[in-house]
Amino acid sequence: MYELHGFRSVEKVEEKRLKREEIILSEAALERQRMFQEKVRAQFAGKRACLETFGCQQNVADGQRLMGMLREMGFCFTENAEEADLVLLNTCAIREHAEQRVYGNLGLLTHSKRKRPDQIIALCGCMAQEARTAARIRESYRHVNLVFGPQALWRFPELLWQVYETGKRVFFVEDEPGSIAEGLPVVRERGVKAWVSIMYGCNNFCSYCIVPYVRGRERSREPAAVLAEVRELVEAGYKDITLLGQNVNSYGNDLDSGYRFPDLLEDIDRIPGAYWIRFMSSHPKDASPRLFDVMAACGHVAKQLHLPFQSGNDRVLEAMNRRYTREKYLELIRYARRVMPDLVLTSDVIIGFPGETEAEALETVSLVEEVGFDALFTFLYSPRPGTKAASLPDPAPKEEKQRWFDRLLEVQNAHSAKIHGSYVGRTVRVLADGESGDEAYPLSARTEGNRLVRLKGGKELLGQFLDVKITGSNTWALYGEPV
Ligand code: SAH
Ligand code: SF4
Ligand code: F3S
Repeated sequence: MYELHGFRSVEKVEEKRLKREEIILSEAALERQRMFQEKVRAQFAGKRACLETFGCQQNVADGQRLMGMLREMGFCFTENAEEADLVLLNTCAIREHAEQRVYGNLGLLTHSKRKRPDQIIALCGCMAQEARTAARIRESYRHVNLVFGPQALWRFPELLWQVYETGKRVFFVEDEPGSIAEGLPVVRERGVKAWVSIMYGCNNFCSYCIVPYVRGRERSREPAAVLAEVRELVEAGYKDITLLGQNVNSYGNDLDSGYRFPDLLEDIDRIPGAYWIRFMSSHPKDASPRLFDVMAACGHVAKQLHLPFQSGNDRVLEAMNRRYTREKYLELIRYARRVMPDLVLTSDVIIGFPGETEAEALETVSLVEEVGFDALFTFLYSPRPGTKAASLPDPAPKEEKQRWFDRLLEVQNAHSAKIHGSYVGRTVRVLADGESGDEAYPLSARTEGNRLVRLKGGKELLGQFLDVKITGSNTWALYGEPV
């Protein structure tokens, strides 16, 4: 086995404040990777790669960089793992279910590997950064050739070269605080949507969450690099651009220049063109009235906000280490709606945090009723080994948590359907961004608030901003036709 590094304890990583000059990768380091890209290309060009990405948009954006590097190494792409020379699983560790799906996939790959012993199987992404995953892969999934975490994404060409050259298994799962690699190649989706990571990592250590352990410390890209990327995307015809970070509201905290997320939004907004800018996620503890003022004032910034609140009960919020109260959250929403009356508001919620009582869960339901979210992403708590919450007593039975969860869904679904119903008869501006697979409404489109609209019309409308009349609705979508 080819062992590159061991693990360091998370505490040590936490202690270390990142220095800019240490985290922005040097041109020499990146050039070295390009050399490995060339080596792979010279010997293996024409091979087929199959990449499957799990998890959040950040992982999707990482997947596009992995594809960029693969393309530079001469690979072509297939969606069929059986016919691929290289299978790459870009994994997510956020809940147990996400991990089970990956192990299920790995299990299936034993068959294709048996038929094709030269097939290379690689596992990257957030699960790969967990010590226990690496240990389990080492022991029980011996058909996996390469494991590397999200911090090592930029090293992919070198790691792949090592696998080819040595024929041995390569594990690169060092607990690094993280770096920033500019200028990696990227293969984007065709169409009008693009993702731009503006920062990496997370410093918040919400007590239930694995992300800070697998994605390293918070680090912001230089504003000039982000602006250049967005400008390039707008010039290339992308019209729906989402800025990504685990907590975009702390963008710039590590820049020492006082430049913050609202400044970045204002600067992006000055880029000429027809496009929408969105962002996710926002942490309420760092959301400021200035952010909402800037959103309201900037024409390109979509009036849409994803502001996860997780729980409506102050004791649970504290145990989650969220560092705001129910009232503070409600105050933010009131202000945001005052300056943006048409704001589309979505959120994330966890039901069944360890020790949560029925009365506390019902406070979450009552917050949902009070705010009236346009849509909600609801999760049942899933213990993540190594996080603080995983060691708390968790007496409520699963069935009881499920009942609270169902109650929450019922409230939200009724509200979503009601809001969607109120659109019928209105004319709204949408961006036609894809095909729906539905014969009667063949196109799919998004409103500025990111609501899904199923649309009548031909493919020639794809990529265009259109005014459409909404003629129908259900809990999940609106239906309409161009006017
Ligand atoms: N950084 C983002 C969230 C990333 S994870 C933010 O703070 O908004 C996306 C969502 O997954 C979280 O908002 C939370 O609702 C949910 N989540 C995270 N850890 C979880 C866990 N252990 N169990 C259940 N849901 C979880
Ligand atoms: Fe996880 Fe909290 Fe960081 Fe979001 S802010 S990624 S929930 S630790
Ligand atoms: Fe999953 Fe990692 Fe995203 S754990 S949700 S892929 S940051």
